[in-house]
Amino acid sequence: MASLSSLKRVKRKPESEAQAQPAPPKEEKKPPSPPPSTDDDLFIPLEKEPPDTPVQRSFISEGRAEQLRLQLWLADNLRKSIAPNIPLDLPLERTPEREELIRQRYEQALQRANIKIPPNVTPEQFYSNVCDEIFGFGPLEPLIRTDSITEIMVNGPYIIFIEQKGRLAESGHKFLDDDHVERIVKRIVKPLGRAADPEHPLIDARLPDGSRVNSVIRPCAIDGPNITIRKFAKDKLGIPDLINFGSMTPMMAEFLEACVVSRLNIVVSGGTGSGKTTLINCLSGYIPDHERTVTIEDAAELQFKQRNVIRLETKKPTPESPGIVTIRDCVINALRMRPERIVVGECRGGETLDMLQAMNTGHDGSMTTVHSNSPRACFDRLESLVLMAGIDFPIHVVRKQIASSVDLIVQASRLRDGSRKITHITEIQGIEGENAILQNVFLFNDRGDGPDGKIVGEHEPGGIRPKCEPKLKQNGFHFKPAMFMKSDTF
Ligand SMILES: Nc1ncnc2c1ncn2[C@@H]1O[C@H](COP(=O)(O)OP(=O)(O)OP(=O)(O)O)[C@@H](O)[C@H]1O
Ligand SMILES: [Mg+2]
Repeated sequence: MASLSSLKRVKRKPESEAQAQPAPPKEEKKPPSPPPSTDDDLFIPLEKEPPDTPVQRSFISEGRAEQLRLQLWLADNLRKSIAPNIPLDLPLERTPEREELIRQRYEQALQRANIKIPPNVTPEQFYSNVCDEIFGFGPLEPLIRTDSITEIMVNGPYIIFIEQKGRLAESGHKFLDDDHVERIVKRIVKPLGRAADPEHPLIDARLPDGSRVNSVIRPCAIDGPNITIRKFAKDKLGIPDLINFGSMTPMMAEFLEACVVSRLNIVVSGGTGSGKTTLINCLSGYIPDHERTVTIEDAAELQFKQRNVIRLETKKPTPESPGIVTIRDCVINALRMRPERIVVGECRGGETLDMLQAMNTGHDGSMTTVHSNSPRACFDRLESLVLMAGIDFPIHVVRKQIASSVDLIVQASRLRDGSRKITHITEIQGIEGENAILQNVFLFNDRGDGPDGKIVGEHEPGGIRPKCEPKLKQNGFHFKPAMFMKSDTF
């Protein structure tokens, strides 16, 4: 970033135009300013909250508010001056020509309106913030630009958490107020033709770089509009990364490869952000090139490398186009698209029944994810999800259907030290009496915390040869029996 003093000076505009500049916000007495940000401006020191500050809402100091007001005022006027026809809640593409124009007019504006940059921010940072308001997503921009940040969570205007290396921390970045957050939400969703208003306060969207966005605005967000961004990883994690991180062992990877190639039906189970989508993406790499796959998601995140892949996305209502297309509609439609495999980003309702039926009727090798915290909980959740289809099956029929459709549950977990691991690879072996028989093929043995706070433990085999072994053999995967045996067996 060029320093302010290095900004090129240009000829002044006629006085009449200069006078047309709106007056800057009124100067008010400032409280002591926080020190300038450090750590590449990722973290801004948290301000001491006044007593009785609502804990989930937090606050903004007058000094910070004044800085943000000034940034916004400058950004809006500069933007209107170079792109008067593009409303402020639409994005403005960052081109070198526009940047140059902004650079020139910024300096003119500072001089003419005799603007003093607030002492709590460097001139370079202030200018960069103004540009982020003009061309980007305001206070979110530096966080979006930082590749090591994997998730951004805006809890109303004054609290922004970020995740790095599996750890969450409050960043200290702030919006000016609720309207400021909602303007950025609109900038994200409007280009996608989606609505963000009191009639449509629950929003799913994507950033231009593919990052997944969810937002809840007023009236449903009590403490202020919030935004959750799952950053799109530029360098996608692959199986070798997962092995390097200790998320699984090479043996587990070999076993999973055999299961995918042999067209076992797989459900990846896990909590929020546990790595389910990442794992499906990794496993998809094992799907042979010639097999036709249809993927179905609410907001497309899956990225398969094969050519014969059709990607479907659900449709939310907008004021102009009130129609809805659900995951279930897409699954039913996918059956007419001659897929060999169907991959549903997440089953969370009645579509589960259609998915299970598809798995059972020639689309074996299908995959999906389910929110649940253990393989057993996953099985139970599948039961409840099937019942959400509104069909009155007796429970034992539902169980039988699940057991005959799903071969494997792979449990992904985000553990207490922030690491993500495959904690179980579990085979559904059938039904005995009323209950499903679940057998761990591999599991993670958690032996507590080490002195550095990192979890101590190792992956180990479940001790029993899986029932699917003959099928794997038919597909050319011959595993030594020892692979499935615990080391103390010998
Ligand atoms: N094994 C892993 N080790 C380290 N980081 C991982 C691992 N798996 C996934 N991640 C990272 O964790 C984050 C969440 O991953 P992912 O989107 O796959 O989770 P998810 O379970 O699908 O989340 P959600 O429930 O929100 O859909 C991503 O930033 C991803 O890069
Ligand atoms: Mg996911």
